[in-house]
Amino acid sequence: MAGKAFISDIQKRLGKEARAFVMKGSFLVDDKQVPLNRNGNPYLSLVLKDRDGTISAKMWDNVETVQKKNPFSAGDFLMVEAEAHLYHGQPQLKIKKLRKITPPAADELVDFLGSVAADTQEMLDELQGLIESIHHGPLRKLLMGRLVDEKFRDEFSRCPAAKTNHHAHIGGLLQHTLSVMKLADGICKNYPQLDRDMLLAGAFLHDVGKIREIRTDRSFAYTDEGNLVGHLVMGAAMFERWSEEYDLDETLSLKLVHMILSHHGKREFGSPVVPKFPEALALHFLDNLDSKLQSMFEVAKQQAGQKWSSFQAQFEGYLFLDSEPTKVQSDDDRPKEQGLRHRPLANLANELQQGATADLFKADENTPKGEPG
Ligand SMILES: [Fe+2]
Ligand SMILES: [Fe+2]
Repeated sequence: MAGKAFISDIQKRLGKEARAFVMKGSFLVDDKQVPLNRNGNPYLSLVLKDRDGTISAKMWDNVETVQKKNPFSAGDFLMVEAEAHLYHGQPQLKIKKLRKITPPAADELVDFLGSVAADTQEMLDELQGLIESIHHGPLRKLLMGRLVDEKFRDEFSRCPAAKTNHHAHIGGLLQHTLSVMKLADGICKNYPQLDRDMLLAGAFLHDVGKIREIRTDRSFAYTDEGNLVGHLVMGAAMFERWSEEYDLDETLSLKLVHMILSHHGKREFGSPVVPKFPEALALHFLDNLDSKLQSMFEVAKQQAGQKWSSFQAQFEGYLFLDSEPTKVQSDDDRPKEQGLRHRPLANLANELQQGATADLFKADENTPKGEPG
């Protein structure tokens, strides 16, 4: 029997050996269903979570007895003894024994919910710097108002950016928001036509509704409001209240509401409206870029050591995880002392025409005659 295993350990071992093994571990119950099997007997179908992500788990036998002895539901914590195996290419646990355990102390909760590697205060400082760079006074004050509000700041810093998939850990929303704001800042240099103030504000605001959509006390379950309304509409409503409080210009306020509502890009992804001006379109793509890239990074980290990942529904297939660094064909043999690489192309063309660089290509003095230089 192996010691306590985290989900990434299970994934790595299955990826390497592709052979079932017995393990023991404590997990948070992310989801619990009790369906009936073909014979009409109930079985447990669970989604278990720890700092590394989630794993599907089934318990086929004695489910009624187990449930009577250990009544539990989503949000509870379990100690599980199980056989880890691959099912249709996905890691899964076949539970042999389970026991409900007392919830961990707040400082141990991170083992079950995960947290960002970066320092929260550093991320907040960087985010504040970007807000301070906004020229539009009332908009800057409105956003700064969120950061100085202790309750908002704490909830915003703790919230994940998603329940699963990307940034699904404590601090994920702050990490994701900061990343989208930095991307926004970057693309404004490339597209000076974009209204930087509005795009930065939209980037900060786009997911604020998540602090009321996702619970963070025990598990990352959706709140009733989150299930019934969703973070786009909730975020827009939160912003409208702040907008009145700070007496924001009506058109700017309306455009920011549109950016929050349209940031998922398409109606089938939950946006009631699709982006209708460049800043809204840019926000959608930056949000999508950051969340998808982060998802790929997380899969690569969790399944490191495998050449191919397990099936990833959001990427419609398996990811190629071969982490061999690119073998760079060094071009350092080019003549550095002549500064060839740094010369303006126009000068270089001139010199080539005049034969001034002919010495760059002539054979070394010591090269034996008849051999290439
Ligand atoms: Fe969103
Ligand atoms: Fe987002």
